[in-house]
Amino acid sequence: MIKIAPSILSADFARLGDEVAEIKMAGADYVHFDVMDGQFVPNISIGIPVLKSLRKATDMFIDVHLMIDRPLRYVEQFCSAGADLVNVHVEADSRENIIAALETVKKLGKKTGVTIKPKTPAGAIAPYLGLVDLVLVMTVEPGFGGQSFMHDQLPKIAQVRRMLDEACPGCELEVDGGVDAVTAKLVKEAGANVLVAGSAVFGKADRAAAVRAIREA
Ligand code: DX5
Ligand code: ZN
Repeated sequence: MIKIAPSILSADFARLGDEVAEIKMAGADYVHFDVMDGQFVPNISIGIPVLKSLRKATDMFIDVHLMIDRPLRYVEQFCSAGADLVNVHVEADSRENIIAALETVKKLGKKTGVTIKPKTPAGAIAPYLGLVDLVLVMTVEPGFGGQSFMHDQLPKIAQVRRMLDEACPGCELEVDGGVDAVTAKLVKEAGANVLVAGSAVFGKADRAAAVRAIREA
C-alpha cells in the first residue's frame, strides 16, 4: 500500500496545527517531521518542543527524520515528545551507537528506521535490517526542501527493495526529496511504498489534489 508523508519543513510553522489538519483531511498517511542540527546537515529546523506541541494537535502518525549527529543522545526525548517512528542516519555515528539508538527506540515501543544519504551505498543498511521497521533512501542531499529529485538513486531504491524482500519483508521503503506527481511514479516502480513530499504538497493551495496526484501517479 502506498503511503504519503507530507514533510512539514515546507509548511507555514506559524499555522502548524492547521497545516497538519489540512493534510489529514487531504488523506495523507504520515506527518514527516524533519529535524536538522546545523552539524549533520548545513541547516537548522525544528526539534523537541515543536514535536511536543504537534503531538497535542494531531493523532496522525509522526515520522521523525533525525538529520543530527550522534542521534543516540536524543532518541529517547523524541520518543517521549510523541514520535511514532524515529529515523536515524547510518552516517551519523558508529554502527554500535546506531544499533543502540534503534534498540532504545524499540524499547520505548516506537517504530524504527534507518536512512541513507545519496552517496551511501545500499549495503550500508545491512547491519540494521533485523532492527528496523522502515528504510529511508534520500533522493536529495539532506538539508533543504525544494531540491530536484536525483534520478541516479532509482537503482539503489530497487536494490534496497530486493534486500528488504529477502531479509525484512514487512519493512517499509520510504523515499525523501524531490518527490512530486512525476517522480512519484518512478519511485513506486522502483519499489518504494512511503513517499515523503514537502514542496509538492505544502507548496500547493489544494492539498487534497496534491496528495491525490502523488498517490495516483
Ligand atoms: C530534506 C528533508 C525532506 C524535505 C523534502 O533534507 O529531509 O524531508 O523536506 O522536501 P521536498 O519534497 O520539497 O524535496
Ligand atoms: Zn526528511
